[in-house]
Amino acid sequence: MPSFALVLLPLLGAALVLSEPVPRTTQIDTSSYCGQYDTVTAGSYVLNLDQWGISGATGSDCANLVSLSGSTIAWQTEWSWSGGSGVKTFTNIQLTDGINVQLSDINSIQSSWSWSQSGSGAAVSDVAYDLFTSSTSGGSSENDWEIMVWLANYNSGPISYNYDSSGNAVPIESGLSIAGNAWDLYYGSNGYNYVYSFLPSSNITSFSGDVNLFLQYLTSEQSLPSSQYLTTFEAGTEATSGSDVTFNTAAYSAIISS
Ligand SMILES: *[C@@H]1O[C@H](CO)[C@@H](O)[C@H](O)[C@H]1NC(C)=O
Repeated sequence: MPSFALVLLPLLGAALVLSEPVPRTTQIDTSSYCGQYDTVTAGSYVLNLDQWGISGATGSDCANLVSLSGSTIAWQTEWSWSGGSGVKTFTNIQLTDGINVQLSDINSIQSSWSWSQSGSGAAVSDVAYDLFTSSTSGGSSENDWEIMVWLANYNSGPISYNYDSSGNAVPIESGLSIAGNAWDLYYGSNGYNYVYSFLPSSNITSFSGDVNLFLQYLTSEQSLPSSQYLTTFEAGTEATSGSDVTFNTAAYSAIISS
């Protein structure tokens, strides 16, 4: 079988070259999901549909993973919502590695996030990291604080105890310089948690930095106790209303070091 050897040698060569991709691309489920609480796991990440506020609303939200290469994941969501009240969905990527540590034990949370959004008409939405803390490790029913770091605000607004006469939320701090950007800080309650929200002075479509710097600011300068445990680390988009909006995350990664 001389032809067999001739074919096999080139194939072996190709296999050797392809056997060491850097970073490694992982086989993942890239199919589209639209169910209210559908999840898709890939490596240390979970895509959550989390359509928690759709009661009384008209529309849909579907999402899919695109790729996972090393610790960098890509995903997208397409949504349309009208009616109802407030936020309809928080389609997000949740990090499952490194959580349930006390804030005082976290050294860094290096993260990068490149995204884009397109749609017809004016969407009401945000793009944000969403963290929850609790007084106990793994405590989900007794989350004490929610910390949001917004990268973009599309005609929406943060939770706040104080509003001005025009109905705009009033920050408790302005022009904070953290992780290479300027932020206003808002404080309020969602009825279950105290909520700190950092809003950028201009939209950030490509973030790269240490998210732990926001937690360190809150534990040293505000009322967040460093004894709290980080129980949830998510990043995604809160959709309130809009038509045929596509939100695309081209590259996202987050690594908690403690
Ligand atoms: C972010 O982009 C939206 C949509 O273009 C715009 O309405 C909003 O004012 C921007 N926010 C900031 C802080 O620049």
